[in-house]
Amino acid sequence: MDINSCIRELKISNHTDSRGGLFSLEIDERYFSVLRVYYIKKVGLNEIRGSHAHKTLSQIFIPISGTFDLIISDGESWRNITIQDCNIAYALSAGFWRELRNFSEDAICLVLASDHYDENDYIRSYDEFQTWRKNEK
Ligand code: TYD
Repeated sequence: MDINSCIRELKISNHTDSRGGLFSLEIDERYFSVLRVYYIKKVGLNEIRGSHAHKTLSQIFIPISGTFDLIISDGESWRNITIQDCNIAYALSAGFWRELRNFSEDAICLVLASDHYDENDYIRSYDEFQTWRKNEK
C-alpha cells in the first residue's frame, strides 16, 4: 500500500438540530473492528503527538473539535493533512509513520484502534521505521 491509499476519508453525519449537535459515524466491520478508544486533548502549543508507526494496528482519527495536522510518511515521502472539518474522519492503515502537530487550543482528537494497547506493535524511531519498511516490501 502506498502513501496515497493509506488514508481513507470517512464521512461523519451531522444530525444537529435545534437541541444541539449530534454526529455519527458508521463503521464497516468487514474492514475495522474497534477494540480500543482513546482521545487526545489539551495539547500544548508546538507539542507533537504520535511520532511512531504501528506494525499491525489500524486507526480511525475523529476530529471532535478544533484543528490539527495529521502528518504521514511511508519512509520516503510525507503527506500533510490539515484537519479542520469535523465532518470527516480519517482511517489510517497499519505500517505508516504518523505525527499529530499544530493543535489548536480547543482541539480534541478521538482515536478508534483495531486492537488493544501493545507497545510491541510500535516503532518509535524513524530510522528503524525506514529499515522496517524496506524489509516489508
Ligand atoms: P504515546 O504512544 O506516547 O501517545 P501519543 O501517540 O499521543 O504520542 O502514549 C503515551 C502513554 O500512554 C504511554 O505511556 C502509553 C500510554 N497509552 C496507553 O496506556 N494506552 C493507550 O491506548 C495509548 C494510546 C497510550
